[in-house]
Amino acid sequence: MAFRNEIRALGGDRAQFVAQDEDGLPDFAAALDAAPAGTAVYCCGPEPMIALVENLCAERRDRLTLHVERFSGTVPIPDGGAGNLPFELELAETGVVLHIPADRSALEVVHEVLPDHPYSCLGGQCGSCEVAVLAGEVDWRDEVLTDAEHEANSAMMLCVSRAHSQRLVIEL
Ligand code: FES
Repeated sequence: MAFRNEIRALGGDRAQFVAQDEDGLPDFAAALDAAPAGTAVYCCGPEPMIALVENLCAERRDRLTLHVERFSGTVPIPDGGAGNLPFELELAETGVVLHIPADRSALEVVHEVLPDHPYSCLGGQCGSCEVAVLAGEVDWRDEVLTDAEHEANSAMMLCVSRAHSQRLVIEL
C-alpha cells in the first residue's frame, strides 16, 4: 500500500489493490483460475497467505508457476555436515554420477558440471532449482512441494534436499 501510486503508474488498470480491512481477504483461487496458462505468480507476505497461495498453485501447477519470497527461512538447510549423509546423484541424460559429500549441497556439486542450472533462494523456498527424480528416496527439506508431492517422490530441490537412499537418479 505504501507504493500504490508507483505501482499504479507502472501497471495502470492491470494493478489491483485489495485492502483487507475494507474489502476482506482477496479471492486468490478466483484470481489464479482467471490467470492464463503459463502465468508466473509472484507471492510475498505473511506466512499463512504464502501457504495458501502455495497450495492453490500446487493444484494448478500444470498452468501456473509460483515464485515466493519470504523474509526469513524456516527450512533446515545443509549445516556444514552435521547430521547429513553423503550420497550419489546420477544425471540420467549423461549417466554421470556425482558424489555429494555431507558438507555440500547437491546444487553446489551439480553446478560443477552444469553451471547454468537455475537457482535463486538457496533455501528450498523458490522452486528455481527443482529437478525431476527418477529413482531413489529423497530426504525433503524444501517448502515448495506439497506433502502429496513429497509422497509422489518425483521431484526435489537441489539446494537443500538430500537422499535417504545411497543414490538418486535425476532428470538432468
Ligand atoms: S534455489 Fe530456491 S528452492 Fe532451490
